[in-house]
Amino acid sequence: MNTRNSRLLFSLVTIFSLVWAFTSTAFASKEKPVIGLSLDTLKEERWQHDRDTFTAAAEKLGARVIVQSANSDDTRQVRDIESLISRGVDVLVIVPHNGAAMTRAVKSANQAKIPVISYDRLILNADIDYYLSFDNVKVGEAQASYLTAHLPTDRPARIVRIYGAPTDNNAKLFKQGQDNVLDPLIKSGKIVVVHEDWALDWKPEVAKKIMNAAITKAGTEIDAVLASNDGTAGGAIQSLVEEGLAGKVLVTGQDADLAACQRIMRGTQSMTVYKPLKTLATNAARIAVSVARGEQPSATSSVDNGLKQVPSIFEQVISVDKENLEATVVADGFHSAAALK
Ligand code: GAL
Repeated sequence: MNTRNSRLLFSLVTIFSLVWAFTSTAFASKEKPVIGLSLDTLKEERWQHDRDTFTAAAEKLGARVIVQSANSDDTRQVRDIESLISRGVDVLVIVPHNGAAMTRAVKSANQAKIPVISYDRLILNADIDYYLSFDNVKVGEAQASYLTAHLPTDRPARIVRIYGAPTDNNAKLFKQGQDNVLDPLIKSGKIVVVHEDWALDWKPEVAKKIMNAAITKAGTEIDAVLASNDGTAGGAIQSLVEEGLAGKVLVTGQDADLAACQRIMRGTQSMTVYKPLKTLATNAARIAVSVARGEQPSATSSVDNGLKQVPSIFEQVISVDKENLEATVVADGFHSAAALK
């Protein structure tokens, strides 16, 4: 093939691939939407579930999902979102590490006319399009109600409170729910909080330190640990194990992590709050694809995020202990009965 023909062939191939690249991306917007999923972390087991269930549901609807995990770093998460925007995604689904630190990134999405869905945790003071989560106040109420139903009533009950990450708006909602139940009992002296603290980034090792500090301060006369999720419960229980108190102190949790469900069967953790992630993730995929196609799916509620009333959908949660673990978490296929042995 002489050089003139090879040059002609080369320019034809170049033009074709440019046209194809342009049409395929533009085409992707409607027929095959591209979703940018920006996660705070994949450290906790639940986020791996969310990622996999969401991606599978979105792909089933014809979409493609690009996942980024920020490893609990705000600067990195803003960068992740900026790069998803520059890659031309059609919609962003964000689990903020810090709901107040995403305002700038959302502004960039607004400028690029890319809709934003806040997933599980609320992005504050920003023009987002939807918020999908569980009833997080109910999570806290379920945890505290479990304790008040099992704590001694013949003397003041002594409890330790381990809250979630101070950067996480959900941690405040869980505490609010717990306060709704506990405040009257604390006021009447029926419950005494011997120690309380927030676990930075929900780290189990931070929760263990908080529990060590509680035992140093209050001794081993502790009736319960109101831990805000299974990760922090696991950290606190490590400390209880070292003090020979595991199984003698009530411990709450959230997320129905596998390790937590095994602890509940063994009796070192008392309960967890099961949040059917499949419902949340599948609904989020449906909304994301619909929004990417220019539709305006309806919401069942709304929340003030400090800037606007955000159309929202909240899923229900289930309080789980040894008695109903099979009928809930196992029946739902979240964990197998064999895995809990
Ligand atoms: C919360 C979430 C909980 C828990 C925690 C730690 O925002 O709602 O399910 O996992 O983060 O990641």
